Order: sequence, then structure tokens, then C-alpha cells
Amino acid sequence: MTHSLRIPDLTIPTRPETGTGWSAGVGPGDAGDPAVSDVDVIRVHGAARLAGTVHVVGAKNSALKLMAAALLAPGRSVITNVPRITDIAIMGEVLRRLGCGVRFDADDPVDPMVAVGGVARSRSVTIDVPEQPGVEADYDLVRRLRASICVLGPLLARRGYVRVAHPGGDAIGSRGLDMHISGLTRMGADISGEHGFVIASAPDGLHGAEITLDFPSVGATENLLMAAVLADGTTVIENAAREPEIVDICTMLIRMGALIDGEGTSTITVTGVPRLQPVRHATVGDRIVAGTWAFGAAMTRGDVTVTGLDPTYLEIALDKVVAAGGLVETRADAFRVRMDERPRSVDVVTLPYPGFATDLLPMAIGMAALSDGASLITENIFDGRFMFANEMMRLGADIKTDGHHAVVRGRERLSGAPVRATDIRAGAGLIIAGLCADGVTEVSHVHHVDRGYPDFVADLRALGIEVERATAPEEPELTI
Ligand code: EPU
Repeated sequence: MTHSLRIPDLTIPTRPETGTGWSAGVGPGDAGDPAVSDVDVIRVHGAARLAGTVHVVGAKNSALKLMAAALLAPGRSVITNVPRITDIAIMGEVLRRLGCGVRFDADDPVDPMVAVGGVARSRSVTIDVPEQPGVEADYDLVRRLRASICVLGPLLARRGYVRVAHPGGDAIGSRGLDMHISGLTRMGADISGEHGFVIASAPDGLHGAEITLDFPSVGATENLLMAAVLADGTTVIENAAREPEIVDICTMLIRMGALIDGEGTSTITVTGVPRLQPVRHATVGDRIVAGTWAFGAAMTRGDVTVTGLDPTYLEIALDKVVAAGGLVETRADAFRVRMDERPRSVDVVTLPYPGFATDLLPMAIGMAALSDGASLITENIFDGRFMFANEMMRLGADIKTDGHHAVVRGRERLSGAPVRATDIRAGAGLIIAGLCADGVTEVSHVHHVDRGYPDFVADLRALGIEVERATAPEEPELTI
């Protein structure tokens, strides 16, 4: 079955009406691919300093999975504090094509940004799940949102059959599914690959199993959890991921009636129940967005207060900022980072939670590029995460990569240049690095940033930055 892709309008203010010139005050663009001939660009000036308060809304990597988890119970679930970003719009479309009613409304409680006259960065999503949801997720959506694969577990549990397009790799590396597949197979599923689809069936239902993951994969833990809650018997997931987003999903599932123990630890035990109830749930704050502002404050020698997140979720990242010379104050749901001097070099090793998050690697490299001394940065999660380092080098960063290590020798200042966002986090890291570069930095392909940061431009402005966003023509194709 094929469909033409039309992502629902989330009534986010759109990019400039014409493709000419620079414009002030525009938020993220719509969810569609930019026209082949246009590319969205953010332009910042160097020698800038981030100062002020910014509020983070719900985590993308939680909200996407909470939306998939809603599939587990027929009826109406409502998820609040959902970030207003492209990936959420795509997940809404995935659910619609599975037969769900999906509606985005003003959030409750209202995003504090609205209270100061800004544009809401969070929404609430109401999902009406039918008794018999569909069983297919097509490639046109899955290729744009790898997280669509998280409908595999819930649909297999509900329907006993599912066909989800294989998402393939992306700009941060090859991204396997072997742990998802071997775990579901242990639970009684029969899984094959055909014409680019992962096809899973369990005509007699899923049963509990003891599963030890080779690596604490976030996605595999989520899929197995969401399959196990309706399986017959008890499933034990060893070496499970421990991210706050996993705990958030478990919290929602438990409120739906699931029997789960050990969430937030490496051993999660799930005893299946025959049926779950729909629920209302608020998404946990986004620690990666919050961490982006923490490093932004450190890099720009700024003073930023971040609200909307329990800072213990960022403990190691904030420790790195302190080691670099930053002053960090924390409260239950907020933290403040101040940096008065040039950062000192610090080594960083990315690891599954509670280790240093791979999604903050571009920010760690940005800080290292400006630090006094050399930093050794080690990436252990994605094999292609250093690809963006070439763009950072265009800004004058001194980076040498070798396999999963990078040695970064700090410079007093970077040098503004046109660069390209290759993924969500790289895009945000490059924009912040541009604040520390002489002259102007233009970051193109910022539709990647819109996938993960609700209105990055508005947040930069709230923190005192002069920033412009525009649609610029893509380089013309040369032919002979
Ligand atoms: N892996 C396998 N086989 C599997 C599953 C994973 O080899 O069956 C490998 C992957 O290829 C990767 C590593 O294990 O090298 C980690 O993958 P994981 O499954 O933990 O990550 P994910 O679920 O695909 C989520 C986030 C990422 C975040 C990682 C790690 C979502 C939608 N994505 O990805 O977020 O970096 O966990 O924390 O939740 C982002 O938001 O920009 C982003 C990339």
C-alpha cells in the first residue's frame, strides 16, 4: 500500500514566505522535506554570549515512544508536554495511517514561553486508538523517522502481525535492529525481512522470555518492553537501557495497567496482562535540549538558567562543565550554568545512560574546540557521529579523528563560515559554535534542527542572541 506523504499542519509559524533575503522572527518550518531547490539556513554572529532563562519542554525521544505506547490500549490516550517538532508530526502521521485519530492541541499546562508572548513549543496530543489498529508502517515515513520502528513491539503484541519498513542507517552511522529482532524472536515471534520490510508474526501470541541484550540499546529495550506488557507470562530484560526516557515510558505503561519492575535499572521485569487502559501522561523534560544550553553557556562564557528538567538526568554532562571551569547551581527542576573564563580542556567518553550522552557529543566537541588545552573525546555509541567534525573544522576547529576517538586542540576563537547541519545535534552544535566564531556563521539544512529542537531560534533570542533564519536557494546542479 502506498500513500503520498502529507504531514499534518501543527500550526507552527512557517519559514519566510519567499525564498529571498533574511527574515526575523520565524520559527521552525513545516514538516515536509524542503523543496529540492530550497534550504533553510540559520545565520548567527560571533562574539555572542548566551544569557537568560530558557524552559525545556518534553523530550523528543520519550514523546515519540509514548505515542507508540498509546497503541497498546484501545481508546483515548492524551500525552502532554509533547515538543512541537517535525519528528512528532511524522509520528502523528504514522499513527493516523494505522487507523488512529490524532489531534494536536494547546498544551496543558501551557508552555511558559506562551506566557511571555512567545509561540508554544509544546502541545498535547490526543490519540484515539481503534480496537484493531493497522499493521503496516511504510518506508516513506520510516525513512524520515527511524523511531517509527518502535511501533513494532506494540503492534505485534496487539495484532500478532506487523510489517514495518526497515529504517536503514543514517548520518550518525549504521543502526542495527538485531537486538530488537532476537528479543522478539525469543518471545515467540517469527521475523523475516522482505522487500525492505521487517515482517513479524506471532499467530499464537507472544510469551514471556529471558532476554539479555548485547548492549543496552534504547530502541530494543523499548520495543521489547512494549511487546512484553501484553505477552503471556514474565519477561526479564537484562542489560536493559536505563535512560530517563525508558523510565518515562514505564511510568506511562504502569499507569495503563502494566506490571513492570526495575525500570531505571539494568534488569527490567515485565509480567504480561491481557489488556491495558488508555491514559493521560506528561512527557519528561528533554535532557539533551537542556544539555545543549548548558554547553552553550560554557562555550559562550554565558549565564543560562534552564527550567523544566530534573538536573540529575544531566549529572555527568554538568560535571564536565564544572571540570571545564563552569559554575553550576541546581534545583529540583532547574539548573544554572555560568562560565566566566575560557573553558579548560576536559576528556569526554560517551556511554549509555547514566554515562555522557552521545547526543551531546557535538556540544562537547564544540567546547573542546574553544578550550585551553587538548581534549580526548571518545564516541562509543554511533560509528558515524564524528562525520560532522569536518563541518566544525570549517569553523577553524582543530580536530583529529581516529576510529572512535577525536583529539581536539582548543583555539581561543573559531572563524565564521558557511557550514551544513548533517543531523539534529550536529546542527545545534554548529549554531552554538558559530556564536563563538569571528564574523558570520551560516548553518544550512537546519530542517534537521527542527526535528529535535522546538523553535531553536526563539530560544536563542530569549537568551539574547541576534539570529536570522531564511530560506536560501540550494546550489544549482551542474550538468554537462
Ligand atoms: N544497535 C544495534 N542493534 C540493535 C539496536 C542498536 O547494533 O538492535 C546499535 C546501534 O546501531 C547504535 C547503538 O546500538 O550503534 C545504540 O543504539 P540504540 O538502540 O541505543 O539507539 P536508538 O534507540 O536507535 C536512541 C535515540 C538517539 C540516541 C540513542 C542513544 C530515539 C528516537 N533515538 O536511538 O537519539 O542517540 O538512543 O542514546 O530515541 C537523537 O535524538 O538525535 C538521537 C539520535
